[in-house]
Amino acid sequence: MGRLNQLSHPLVAHHLATMRDEKTSPAEFRATVSRLAMLLGVYATEDLPTAATTVRTPLADCPSQTLAVRVGLVPILRAGLGLVEPLHQLIPDAEVWHLGMYRNEETAEPVSYYDKLPSRDAVDVALVLDPMLATGGSIRSAVERLIRWGVPDIRVLSVIAARPGLERVQAEFPDVSIFVCAVDPSLNDQQFIVPGLGDAGDRIFNTV
Ligand code: PRP
Repeated sequence: MGRLNQLSHPLVAHHLATMRDEKTSPAEFRATVSRLAMLLGVYATEDLPTAATTVRTPLADCPSQTLAVRVGLVPILRAGLGLVEPLHQLIPDAEVWHLGMYRNEETAEPVSYYDKLPSRDAVDVALVLDPMLATGGSIRSAVERLIRWGVPDIRVLSVIAARPGLERVQAEFPDVSIFVCAVDPSLNDQQFIVPGLGDAGDRIFNTV
């Protein structure tokens, strides 16, 4: 089973309540996604390898550490775009590789419409960004693509995951780590997460 890491923190609980609230405006929703993405980003990167170096402060030499891996941010369009800027703030040298996918409304299966991943020179660590993991179809498709690219360390960052989709991803990809703020119990007939927060892409981009 892929390792599930659920971030339990009072600030996460507070911001999740704002995100779920149907009265939250798109502007506040975007800001809240960003706050949660930053908290998730810190959590999901706490074991990234570093290399020893020395920097010279105005006073003395100081033993220091710098990141020793190439990190790729992999947002799933559209909603994953809401997580890019906060992650980029944390890892300014990260590469950003977009994957375009939408769910077919009848089958709930992901349909790929954008993919410019190169065929070689995979990043060392890929952080897959999508605020919602419902059936898990989009994440599974993204992870398969990153495995084909040759990424050795794949980590999924989702704000809310539904238990059934999450378990499918975990069972299918035992080596993939998953970082979430909340796990919701179920999906409705349209494969929307319940209680969830509605359609994250529409709420981020004010296209409800
Ligand atoms: C939503 C959401 C995820 C996906 C989750 O995207 O942002 O990408 O569905 O569902 P799954 O786990 O069942 O695959 P949507 O199709 O609404 O596209 P959008 O991000 O462009 O709004």
